[in-house]
Amino acid sequence: MRTLNVELAERSYPIRIGAGLLADPGLILPYLKTKRVAVVTNDVVGPLYLARFVAGLEAHGLRVTPIVLPDGEAHKDWPTLNLIFDGLLAARCDRSTTLIALGGGVIGDMVGFAAATYQRGVPFIQVPTTLLSQVDSSVGGKTAINHPLGKNMIGAFYQPKLVIADIATLNTLPDRELKAGLAEVIKYGLIRDLPFLDWIEANLERLLARDPDALAEAVERSCRNKAQVVAADETEQGERATLNLGHTFGHAIETGLGYGAWLHGEAVAAGTVMAADLSRRLGWLSDADVERVRAVHVRAGLPVRGVPLGAERYLELMAHDKKVTDGTLRLVLLKAIGQAVITSEAKTDDIRATIDACC
Ligand code: NAD
Ligand code: GLY
Repeated sequence: MRTLNVELAERSYPIRIGAGLLADPGLILPYLKTKRVAVVTNDVVGPLYLARFVAGLEAHGLRVTPIVLPDGEAHKDWPTLNLIFDGLLAARCDRSTTLIALGGGVIGDMVGFAAATYQRGVPFIQVPTTLLSQVDSSVGGKTAINHPLGKNMIGAFYQPKLVIADIATLNTLPDRELKAGLAEVIKYGLIRDLPFLDWIEANLERLLARDPDALAEAVERSCRNKAQVVAADETEQGERATLNLGHTFGHAIETGLGYGAWLHGEAVAAGTVMAADLSRRLGWLSDADVERVRAVHVRAGLPVRGVPLGAERYLELMAHDKKVTDGTLRLVLLKAIGQAVITSEAKTDDIRATIDACC
């Protein structure tokens, strides 16, 4: 088992990474306030892992309330969030109950938000089961649901007490989801960790073949990058925004097409190639750099062209981005491969040109 720490003073917590960790409830026990927990999952992950996980917890004397939500990004919304509260209230879960999110980023984001607000805040633990959630969404305390007008628009910063990434759960993940997770892995290399990008390029086939050592290495190096950024800028006053490389274009694709049509990681992949193209228009990246960004995503089996929504529709959707400050759109672009910046330097005509060229 590999362990990293997210250093946030009194809100610090460990990330445990390894194969088979789900079968070891002993990892969880020290982080509970009482023996009362609610495990929230969905109707895809539940049939795979819930019964064994709950049985393990109960064998340690815990009282467990399971809550199973409908699967999918289209259900990352108010009515589904309310199902968590319904389940907690029906089972008379009190303030000392720990919520455990068992699933991908959709479950993690929703359970985190439920934990932040149920009875004004209860502890929660992330047990991410997708590559994307193991390398990104389970770490850092961003929790949210979507609004029809924008992704992740309603939420809170609320840190978990513990993250347990069981690499073995990735064996049941569909190929398309594994590839979507790779988009966020590649992201760390592009924004701040050139040696990691070199490693990803050299090990992409092993990752696609689900080599457990390669996956554990990718999860650990991704989480180390994320933990460093979050420790430096928990509430995204600056540096943390660089974790959103490709996301402003990507969120426009997700919202424009309807949530769930493209996977989040797929939209981020196409958005990252668009961000690279725009960085070239600003004179920061060379043609060869843009090709490097494109090629690694192609090799990972990810889309590298956006959907043709039209430049005006993209701009309208991008105007809802959370990085918009005082009406000014700020984008995460690349000064160089391995060095992201947040900037409002891109002119609308250049953004239009990128959209036209890349979609
Ligand atoms: P997801 O949660 O929808 O999971 C993808 C699919 O895989 C779902 O159908 C899920 O049920 C299924 N699944 C999960 N684990 C499985 C397993 N082990 N075996 C088989 N199937 C499994 O999607 P995701 O890619 O994990 O997360 C995307 C979400 O994360 C988006 O809503 C995005 O906005 C959010 N996100 C949040 C942050 C953050 O910092 N909070 C960062 C990145 C992304
Ligand atoms: N995934 C973006 C962030 O956590 O800030």
